[in-house]
Amino acid sequence: MMPVLDVKALSKNFGGLRALNEVDMTIDAGEIVALIGPNGAGKTTFFNCITSIYTPTEGTVNFTPLGKERTLVNGMKPNLVTQLGMARTFQNIRLFKNMTVLENVMIARHCRTKAGILGALLRPPSVVQEEREIVQRSYDLLKYIGLHKLYDEQASNLSYGAQRRLEIARALATEPSLLLLDEPAAGMNPQETAELVELILRIRKEFNVAILLIEHDMSLVMKLSERIYVMEYGCLISQGTPEEVRKDPRVIKAYLGEDAHA
Ligand SMILES: Nc1ncnc2c1ncn2[C@@H]1O[C@H](COP(=O)(O)OP(=O)(O)O)[C@@H](O)[C@H]1O
Ligand SMILES: [Mg+2]
Repeated sequence: MMPVLDVKALSKNFGGLRALNEVDMTIDAGEIVALIGPNGAGKTTFFNCITSIYTPTEGTVNFTPLGKERTLVNGMKPNLVTQLGMARTFQNIRLFKNMTVLENVMIARHCRTKAGILGALLRPPSVVQEEREIVQRSYDLLKYIGLHKLYDEQASNLSYGAQRRLEIARALATEPSLLLLDEPAAGMNPQETAELVELILRIRKEFNVAILLIEHDMSLVMKLSERIYVMEYGCLISQGTPEEVRKDPRVIKAYLGEDAHA
């Protein structure tokens, strides 16, 4: 079977800095994969390159959404990559803070509707019907992640952990084949982190989605991931199952030895 994500020799330079150096990665349908490594290793840059927010200096990113053709993502507009079925959350939460919780999910849903933003503003009857469905689907998603009771709350009033979950709901609203999570547990307390593990496992099962997550919380990474890629200074230095990676001397030296936090 074709992998969902197939990255070959991906490099990214920022002036003289080589933030990514010939990175290869494949992710199969429904897999949960972690990308770990010290701060500044290039993990977020990798997300920005595969979602086409950044243009890679070299290399290719091929994406094969469920039931669709393999597509070269390089050079595509980021919103088209989302439409193809790649969704993400951000290391620094990016919600519409002045909108309600429900509106934040509804906005994302528009990428899957016929009317688009313009139709939503002009509102012919077909759009009114579609709009109702958007409200319903968005509310259902909130229910799924346990935020439906706060649907009318302003997003900025949510706790930090709830905002991170809302970002995940918003990503799911686009019906992704690949979900990218950039440090989803950052700033969460142990209780919220435990709930997040449950949520991610449920999402994979019920949404039939592959998940790539960047995370520093090693217990979460070890619990969730089927495979792990380890990056340092823009290069992959190890990859394999959690057991393989945990035992790799290069990883112990570069990452796990380093105060267990990076
Ligand atoms: N837009 C940018 N312009 C210049 N340098 C950048 C930019 N984005 C990231 N970098 C640099 O690239 C390196 C990798 O950063 P990043 O991908 O954010 O690392 P990580 O997410 O692994 O902590 C860092 O040295 C960072 O300063
Ligand atoms: Mg980062």
